[in-house]
Amino acid sequence: MYVDADIGIDEEKIKSSGEILSIFDKKEIDGGWSFAEYKPSDTGKWSHNYHRYPAKFIPQLVEKLIGEYVSSEEAHVNDPFYGCGTTIVTAISRGLKASGTDINRIAYLMTKVKSTPIDPRYLDKKINDFLASIKNLDDSQTLLDTKNIEPLIPERQIERINYWFTEENKTKLGRILRIIREENDEKIRDLLTVAFSHILKSCSIWLQGSTKPTRDPKKRLIDPCVALRRHLKKMQRGNSDFYKVVPSNVRENLGEYLNIKIGDAKKQPVANRSVDLIVTSSPYVTSYEYADLHQLSTVWLDLAEDLTEYKKEFIGTSYKSYSDKELKSKIAVDIVNKMLERNQKMAKEVEAFFIDLEAVFDESFRILKPGGRCCYVIGDTKLKGVNILNAEVFAESLQYSGFRLDRAIKREIPSKILPQKRDEKTGRFANNHNANSEAYPVEYIVIGLKE
Ligand SMILES: C[S@@+](CC[C@H](N)C(=O)[O-])C[C@H]1O[C@@H](n2cnc3c(N)ncnc32)[C@H](O)[C@@H]1O
Repeated sequence: MYVDADIGIDEEKIKSSGEILSIFDKKEIDGGWSFAEYKPSDTGKWSHNYHRYPAKFIPQLVEKLIGEYVSSEEAHVNDPFYGCGTTIVTAISRGLKASGTDINRIAYLMTKVKSTPIDPRYLDKKINDFLASIKNLDDSQTLLDTKNIEPLIPERQIERINYWFTEENKTKLGRILRIIREENDEKIRDLLTVAFSHILKSCSIWLQGSTKPTRDPKKRLIDPCVALRRHLKKMQRGNSDFYKVVPSNVRENLGEYLNIKIGDAKKQPVANRSVDLIVTSSPYVTSYEYADLHQLSTVWLDLAEDLTEYKKEFIGTSYKSYSDKELKSKIAVDIVNKMLERNQKMAKEVEAFFIDLEAVFDESFRILKPGGRCCYVIGDTKLKGVNILNAEVFAESLQYSGFRLDRAIKREIPSKILPQKRDEKTGRFANNHNANSEAYPVEYIVIGLKE
């Protein structure tokens, strides 16, 4: 059993909020967990670069945690907030069972595609056929020939689509989507849909360097066919490398290994005491509105009837507040009280965020086998001048869900991997040049052990 010497866990006792604050205060950065030496080709290997995703893990972090805590070849790894699937892909690459949830519908599609290796020769053929079928769309000379392909543009999303796309790209994208939908093989159709989703940003007037939805009417637009061809080539290479590492019995019986759902993190699709390791990173309070950030994909793929209702399902959004639930963590209560003095609405949002997370920790405890661990990757932030000590709250709360606080690792986030800055007023990620506060120079891996 691993015991972090720095923490000096007392097996019998729950750490008080004061002890936890002091442990984190004294924590030194562990250089072994920054992975600064890895290049984009390492962090984007296999299927990891199929689609951009905000605040995604680097696979090396997940690989190291699995390496330290999983010994059985039959192990089951879970991620309640799988995002674009870094944990899931890593588990599948090692022949382990992988399960999890994400509320973001596009995250589900990405993760499914990224963890499904396809026979490279078959994929090459299918992609060549597809590229041949969209070839004419590329060429304005022959655009007339393709007039008979009726663009597939979701009617109820037309306003949003018109807001983000020029007439020319809208029509081309609509025709491409029609061709993709006509593909009979679901695996291929899903892969093409992920490629389509990935290129939407560069084909729209969404300000290129920005994660936030901002229009740039002067943007130089990329032709959808050119963008797709380029991205599909990358995906072909990624699939081919991934295919080689996934054990053949897993490739042939993927349904027995991969169990991912669109759903809330508080309800995992697995039995009590069935999971060996949880590796995850939760959303942050009022930071990314994932539903907004992925709205180009959401509207084109027609994934949400009502964007406002859809947003409310996300943890950490500015749409949530509870009046009937109480926080267990004293550190969290203290943060909420401090925030109440500055901004009442934001205090309710922070409270709702920690209440939601406490329920997710209960669920992690339910599904883990005795001896299993949960690893929550989280950074501390600042909102309206109040320190939001996420990692400290997580460490305290995990104990109230039944875990022993086993270990806390403090790691540096190399700037090339994640955005570093948050706007102190809104708490959201800002472009580095206009942010006014430090965001994530470091983060923690908070590890709970189910004894
Ligand atoms: C920090 S990201 C996870 C990134 C992931 N580790 C990766 O490598 O891509 C947090 C995720 O939590 C998801 N999320 C937000 N609210 C949720 C909820 N109620 N249930 C499940 N997932 C949720 C978001 O959609 C987002 O994908």
